[in-house]
Amino acid sequence: MSEQGKIVITGASGQYGRQATDMLIAKGLADKLILITRTPAKLADRAAQGCDVRYGDYDKPETLAAAVAGAEKMLLISGTRVGARVVQHKAAIDAAAKAGVRHILYTSFIGIDDPANPAEVRHDHIETEKLMRASGMAWTMLRDAHYADAMLLMAGPGMMATGKWISNSGDGREAMVWREDCVACAVAALTTPGHENRIYNITGPDLQTFDEVAALVREITGCPLEHVKVDDEGQYAIFDAMGIPRRPVDDQYVGGIPWNSDDMVTFGAAIRGGFLEIRTDDVEALTGRKARSVRRMIEDNKAMLIAAANGAPQPA
Ligand SMILES: NC(=O)c1ccc[n+]([C@@H]2O[C@H](COP(=O)([O-])OP(=O)(O)OC[C@H]3O[C@@H](n4cnc5c(N)ncnc54)[C@H](OP(=O)(O)O)[C@@H]3O)[C@@H](O)[C@H]2O)c1
Repeated sequence: MSEQGKIVITGASGQYGRQATDMLIAKGLADKLILITRTPAKLADRAAQGCDVRYGDYDKPETLAAAVAGAEKMLLISGTRVGARVVQHKAAIDAAAKAGVRHILYTSFIGIDDPANPAEVRHDHIETEKLMRASGMAWTMLRDAHYADAMLLMAGPGMMATGKWISNSGDGREAMVWREDCVACAVAALTTPGHENRIYNITGPDLQTFDEVAALVREITGCPLEHVKVDDEGQYAIFDAMGIPRRPVDDQYVGGIPWNSDDMVTFGAAIRGGFLEIRTDDVEALTGRKARSVRRMIEDNKAMLIAAANGAPQPA
């Protein structure tokens, strides 16, 4: 792929960024990758693999010009400070446009066109998309559905330990998707032609309620798991009791969950209201293979879920 220009990736040390980097390196593109982090030592392994690791901080826009210099494309992986990311993303978009980046791809979120969608993440993503459209660069919106990993692998162990999946998502349906499938879509959009100025809705294969997912967990693991429906206040009370902050705190994880409760409660309300009831075949269109299912994620992680149900230690 000698014609591939340089690709700069923000959030390269995070879960999404690491998977994206792995897939791009597997395509022989290590020397085409510029990886941005606030702590370059975190990515020493990537430098050893031939990637160009550079310091950059969304909160220090002056650091971003040098960080993005020489790139043809940018994969802007959304930051984690929900509700306050637009300023951060603007700094990255401005730096990219100024440095001559030709095409910017962004990890956005499904269902954001509807202004009635209560999910707090909607604001950050729709505003970031507007900035991208106005930037003069070609853009690609990778609108990811809810990650099945976030539900089953991060929150899953805690749910299995208690046998209760407490949520305010009611009987809403969504097509949860594997993060890895989302990353594979991003890699396809970065390395194949024809994705400029396109919006993709990257979803799993099945629209399901949490009741249905809990039934799958029971069927596959043989362990009890009940979806307990609460209202928004009830959901806040649970998260407050766990010590999860209402507003985001950078780099803070509580019980293995990195998110803040305003984000999660409004997210649940969006599911309940049907705003995330979107299912597409965009994973297959982009990658050539079908999106993997929630059932398969439960099957692949059956031993971990059973161990959690039987009292295995939980993440701090
Ligand atoms: N669709 C869904 O259900 C869903 C679920 C989870 C996440 N997501 C999306 O995916 C994104 C990435 O998630 P993830 O799990 O990969 O996150 P993560 O593992 O927590 O990584 C966060 C990344 O953001 C970078 N970062 C944080 N603050 C920064 C700053 N001020 N300047 C530059 N970089 C900064 C960090 O880099 P350094 O620490 O190295 O600087 C790190 O690489 C999230 O923000 C969210 O939008 C979606």
